[in-house]
Amino acid sequence: MTLKSLITTTSIAVCSLMGLHSIAFADSHGGANHMGRTIGVSCAGCHGTDGVSHSPHLRSISELSEEKIVTALKKFKSGERKGSIMNRIAKGYTDEQITAVAHYFATVNK
Ligand code: HEC
Repeated sequence: MTLKSLITTTSIAVCSLMGLHSIAFADSHGGANHMGRTIGVSCAGCHGTDGVSHSPHLRSISELSEEKIVTALKKFKSGERKGSIMNRIAKGYTDEQITAVAHYFATVNK
């Protein structure tokens, strides 16, 4: 295999992986909302199903506005706000994913 064809093959593989990624997130239930719900499932273990906490130590994030959730997550991500666990979690998400999950929790029980 020549170097050129290796590069071409690699780019095709990377592009199709990215393609699959967007298909997995954007389905017929409406792109961003579905992405928010998918990410939201991973928060439920600590914050409760649909962001309704049953722990006295954690408030229900679904009571917060979309803007407050976005701000909190971005501050955790940048390290401006310190937490025990949320800094690590927030770093795993892009700004687009943060907006989607914030929208999901801010609207899910309303
Ligand atoms: C392992 C448990 C855990 C998971 C998973 C988790 N959180 Fe948190 N979350 C916490 C804790 C604990 C805090 C309090 C801050 C800290 O100590 O990190 C918090 C704080 C928050 C806050 C700030 C609430 C406030 O009152 O200002 C938001 C918003 C939030 N989490 C959103 C999320 C979202 C969205 C996800 C999923 C992407 C998520 N969390 C996943 C444990 C978790």
